[in-house]
Amino acid sequence: MKFEVWTRDARALAADALAVFVFEEDSCATPELAPFDEALPGLLSSALGEEMRGKAGETATLYVTGGMEAKRLLLIGAGAAADFDIRALRRLSAQAARIVAKKGLTTLGIVPRGDFNPLEAAATVADGALTGVYDPALYRKPKEDAKAIESVTLCVAPTDEEATRRGVQRGAALAEAINFARTLAQEPSNKLTPVEMARRAQAMAEREGLTCEVFGRDQMAAMGMGALLAVGQGSAQEPQLIRLSYRPAGSGGGGDLRIAFVGKGITFDTGGICIKPRDAMWEMKYDMAGGAAVIGAMQAIARLKPPVAVDGYVAAAENMPSATSYKPGDVLHSYDGKTIEVIDTDAEGRLALCDALAYARKDGGATHLVDLATLTGAVMVALGQERAGLMGTDAAFIERVKQAAAAAGEKVWQLPLDEEYGELMKSDIADIKNLGNRYAGSITAAWFLREFAGDTPWAHLDIAGVAWLDGDKPDMAKGPTGFGVRTIVQLVEQMAAEKNA
Ligand code: BES
Ligand code: ZN
Ligand code: ZN
Repeated sequence: MKFEVWTRDARALAADALAVFVFEEDSCATPELAPFDEALPGLLSSALGEEMRGKAGETATLYVTGGMEAKRLLLIGAGAAADFDIRALRRLSAQAARIVAKKGLTTLGIVPRGDFNPLEAAATVADGALTGVYDPALYRKPKEDAKAIESVTLCVAPTDEEATRRGVQRGAALAEAINFARTLAQEPSNKLTPVEMARRAQAMAEREGLTCEVFGRDQMAAMGMGALLAVGQGSAQEPQLIRLSYRPAGSGGGGDLRIAFVGKGITFDTGGICIKPRDAMWEMKYDMAGGAAVIGAMQAIARLKPPVAVDGYVAAAENMPSATSYKPGDVLHSYDGKTIEVIDTDAEGRLALCDALAYARKDGGATHLVDLATLTGAVMVALGQERAGLMGTDAAFIERVKQAAAAAGEKVWQLPLDEEYGELMKSDIADIKNLGNRYAGSITAAWFLREFAGDTPWAHLDIAGVAWLDGDKPDMAKGPTGFGVRTIVQLVEQMAAEKNA
């Protein structure tokens, strides 16, 4: 899919379809719609009355017989103008692209709307179009007559041309990173083992000009990463700690700021000896979605080149039951030096992450830490599949993450992390145990991680509920969502901008 910019009359754009967004309060006289009413006398006015009223989710396809060059006018309901935000613009652009792709059409024009700066609008439209048409059927034979959208043309004012071109590039960089993360998460565990995940990170790094280091079993044993290693010890697949580094050109690394992202990369979570029930166990192939988001975000950062140093870590392992598995009651020696009593082998994400977090802080010199993890089923009980759970230390840093998520159009919700919750994590034999009681499961999991983040400002995103979509939506295919990529890329750009201000 390539993007083009059209600065003349939208009615003169030749395309298979031209998408126009319609607000609830619109009429044919609304300045954005009036030219099409003039081109299609009677047709638009009856469509707006009978086919749709601009409510979110409504669509209508008008077949054009003259008056404008596009073959179809695609009306997409945008809801109330007052509620129209970046998420809505992305959703509508995705919806338009999906409709056109499903019909097997190849050229689409989009007239962006809303009160956004032209760069932001263009980035959002490009993001929506590219993430909208993503197809998760990685191993299904394509239909012989399958056609993909060749071009999406944004219709904008001549004064916005430059900003639109730049915006489209930014949006495409982000969307390609998101789709890359979705593919990693969609890959089944027989294909995407920890070693394969490391290979894909390595290949991306070579292509995009990042450095990539990978530690295997022996190196991690020598370094003393007893927690991450324990999670992988029941599997025939070797665990890997992946580190991707981006350094801005020209400077000494962009001042003393160093942002580190740490992703949970459990390529399959059977639960281990505390084995999960069979229902939907197959979905546990996406237990590496946090790691995938980190790898995807590093690709976007390599392309967007913000003036700040960023590292991405992935703690990759497969959690299996076997004769060599770690077991409930085992005591592990973490990289940080703390001892951990294992109560439940299914609470493995925190064990994998704690060594990566401590490594990022102690050896990686991180000044700010953000981890992304499909950590707990409990976060789905609390927040469903709409919002990721956000927890952390350092109120100012959490606030920044919230702002980044809002600007990026990803929904998060903060949960508390009071001292008192820590009582539940006390062990009778070790410094800490890996399980609390039956309540506040997302918070006790985060509490465990907090012990390994030390004094470094740290934010934790529990993405178990939002990393996977159970059914197709008008704007997105079911399966992995790539959640988190937009937020952490936005966070990097925001922090880089603040630093330079
Ligand atoms: N990977 C799961 C969490 C999860 C559940 C992710 C559903 C996505 C969808 C995690 O490792 C896990 O098994 N958590 C347990 C924790 C429990 C043992 C404390 C859970 O949520 O049941
Ligand atoms: Zn688990
Ligand atoms: Zn897990």
